[in-house]
Amino acid sequence: MLTLDSVWKSNSESPSEFILKDCSFSFQERRIYAIVGTSGVGKTTLLRALNNLVPIDRGRILLAEQDISALHPAEVRRRISLMFQTPAFVGDSVRENLDFAARFARRDKIEFSALMERVHLNPAFLNRDVTQLSVGQQQRVCLARTLATRPDILLLDEPTSALDDDTADGILTLVGEISKQEGLLTIFVTHRRSHARKLGEHVLELSDGQLRILS
Ligand SMILES: Nc1ncnc2c1ncn2[C@@H]1O[C@H](COP(=O)(O)OP(=O)(O)O)[C@@H](O)[C@H]1O
Ligand SMILES: [Mg+2]
Repeated sequence: MLTLDSVWKSNSESPSEFILKDCSFSFQERRIYAIVGTSGVGKTTLLRALNNLVPIDRGRILLAEQDISALHPAEVRRRISLMFQTPAFVGDSVRENLDFAARFARRDKIEFSALMERVHLNPAFLNRDVTQLSVGQQQRVCLARTLATRPDILLLDEPTSALDDDTADGILTLVGEISKQEGLLTIFVTHRRSHARKLGEHVLELSDGQLRILS
């Protein structure tokens, strides 16, 4: 479903170093993967490459057998949803953000209150400014946005790093629920092995430019 085929990616700050070194791996649809790796090893760069936000030097990245670099960027954005450590928003209120996502995905008749309930947020929050919410609540808004756009793939870059243990636990549980309900291929990057084991059906390690299966 999402395949790295002999991918090479050099470090932009020291081009003789490779973040990905002849890296090959096939992520299967509807599975949840966690990728661990030390800080600076290239986890964020890998996710950005998987989403065609950064170009690779050699090799191919295939999304359902199509070379991702040949797809229209908007098509990639629709099929792959991204979540970061610190959520990024487009509009002021929660409702505006969900509305933007739904329009981007060309979906109408979405019941936003129902989306809020699925991510365990009070529907009254729809009218709140996103900046008034805690980071954990903002992460839930991001997941509601993912439910609105209905991608095939969810990529998460250390979404729990800025959260305390209990809040992180709640977010990981919710990500697991949503991934399974929606049948998403989920790739979750973290430097915390306990979080990787909690969510990942498969745990991989990125080191020396390659992905290795840990469990
Ligand atoms: N767009 C890019 N292309 C190539 N290298 C990059 C890019 N952005 C950051 N880097 C470099 O990649 C290395 C790994 O960074 P990063 O992917 O952020 O690691 P991690 O997320 O595992 O902490 C860093 O040395 C950084 O300078
Ligand atoms: Mg990172």
